[in-house]
Amino acid sequence: MYQIRILKQSLAVIVLLLLASACTYDFIELPKPDPVDPTDTISFQSAVVPIFSDGNNCTACHTTGATAPDLTASKAFDAIVPAYVNLDDPESSSIYWYAHPSSNTHGWKKLSLSEAAIILGWIQQGAQNN
Ligand code: HEC
Repeated sequence: MYQIRILKQSLAVIVLLLLASACTYDFIELPKPDPVDPTDTISFQSAVVPIFSDGNNCTACHTTGATAPDLTASKAFDAIVPAYVNLDDPESSSIYWYAHPSSNTHGWKKLSLSEAAIILGWIQQGAQNN
């Protein structure tokens, strides 16, 4: 009898351990790009615009009269501020997350992680026309 009780008790412990270890949650979260140095001012014209237009990266499709937003150099600012930025919650700005390398939206073309970091940093600094 004594041995059976020991056996039952150890079974109970094993079951409890299995239950405890089964309760892990997987959170799907966009990997955070390296934060941009907050003392380093990110210029819209010299840091953000080239992401859109160099090599027609985005302007191949997002150009005047084509798919919104118009990301050509002279139009990009008015096209994305304020419609595609959220100053209260920069990470929810669609110009940042919609083509983020880990998003499941916008299969057309993805930003690189470092490009996403520049765009996020620029929004965190107030999305200025600088
Ligand atoms: C091959 C064409 C193509 C390229 C290149 C492209 N896009 Fe797009 N993009 C689209 C199309 C088509 C849509 C609209 C359909 C959709 O939402 O996927 C769109 C939608 C978007 C939207 C959402 C627009 C809205 O009104 O909600 C954003 C933001 C965006 N693109 C950003 C970018 C950025 C940033 C780049 C450059 C890294 C880029 N796109 C490159 C084709 C493209």
